[in-house]
Amino acid sequence: MRPDLIAAALSAARSVGTPFWLYEAEPIRQRVGQLSAFDCIRYAQKANSNTHILRLLRAMGVAVDAVSLGEIERALRAGYAPGTDAHEIVFTADIIDEATLARVLELGIPVNCGSPDMLRQLGRAGRGHPVWLRINPGFGHGHNRKTNTGGPSSKHGIWHEELEESLHLVDEYGLSLIGLHMHIGSGVDYAHLHRVCDSMLDAVRRVGRPLQAISAGGGLSVPYRPGEPEIDIAEYYAAWNETRLEAERITGSRLRLELEPGRYLVGNAGLLVAEIRAVKKVADNHFVLLDAGFSDLARPIIYGSHHEICFVTQVGQPVAGPILPIAVAGPLCEAGDVFTQHDGGFVEFRDLPLPEIGDIAVLRDAGAYGATMSSNYNTRPLAPEVLLDGGALSVIRKRQSIEQLLDLEADGGPL
Ligand code: LLP
Repeated sequence: MRPDLIAAALSAARSVGTPFWLYEAEPIRQRVGQLSAFDCIRYAQKANSNTHILRLLRAMGVAVDAVSLGEIERALRAGYAPGTDAHEIVFTADIIDEATLARVLELGIPVNCGSPDMLRQLGRAGRGHPVWLRINPGFGHGHNRKTNTGGPSSKHGIWHEELEESLHLVDEYGLSLIGLHMHIGSGVDYAHLHRVCDSMLDAVRRVGRPLQAISAGGGLSVPYRPGEPEIDIAEYYAAWNETRLEAERITGSRLRLELEPGRYLVGNAGLLVAEIRAVKKVADNHFVLLDAGFSDLARPIIYGSHHEICFVTQVGQPVAGPILPIAVAGPLCEAGDVFTQHDGGFVEFRDLPLPEIGDIAVLRDAGAYGATMSSNYNTRPLAPEVLLDGGALSVIRKRQSIEQLLDLEADGGPL
């Protein structure tokens, strides 16, 4: 880890306490730059929806995706302009509730519909509203089967065989069709790239009418382990641009090429910083227990995801204890509260230097699906978020207090 980043983490730890999330602005900006060939980068804010991160992205011309009423309100708070022409915010989901329906109609936010039922509900409430169709092409992929959003076992998107019915609904309700969208999963391996592009062209042919845009969805992978390769963006863009050009020939319309990355923009730009609170020996096994658990970073327990972990002392030196097979775990009352897990398996004992109580543990590449997937399990408040930008640290979310948490249960009155 870079010395300046360690120094920033220690300085923030002294101010906000542990655990906390630390994000770096610069790598996020670099990632945006790497995708600049696309006409529109639409950030999937579910990866990290802090309004300060959204502001940073908006300042670079990045549009945003919202999947809930809360995410719409976040985008607005961050200064995103709603409106059918601006296209700054698009609502993407497989269902729409009444409150969200009212809000997208009021603000003119285009809706990316993942089910024929959504088209019906939207059409009944707001004739002429702009829509995208999210199509499940019949196959998918992801870093884990739980992040695979295509194929017959996925609840996501309009099944490709229902495309005609969906077009019929678009016409019946006079909805305005903006474009077609495919997102086959998260953490995708690009053996699937050409297959997705072919499916998109097939869908464009079947739609057979002018469109304004096509979207390649998100899913771009990032490295989590040392030496893991970066994906080749030039190759990825070339395949999609070729698809766009062919789709333009088919439809006779000029098409905007959109991309919807989450992890790619923020995944490698965040750390979870925690303090070591116990070092245990259980039979022959070594356990290091942190003050952060899966209520903070849930990816290992849910997907068996790998996050590199390094230990530093309170003065920023790498921990120099003997290298031993160590499991790094959290404080929660649940056996699965272990950060070092085998993919799809259970506790992994990883070769790490044995730290002492009071040392700091840094879990890397936690910028995507870290804070946004945290919970209050074991009545633990949400951890603060800190941003490092141009050498300056700022607290972009305070630590939730136990009082705030309990306040929601304050009255318990009759319905
Ligand atoms: N677009 C749609 C419609 C999505 O459902 C998603 C992610 C994205 C874009 C962004 O995907 P990305 O570029 O970040 O791969 N919690 C899991 C990931 C779940 C992804 C959900 N949808 C994880 O921690 O790996």
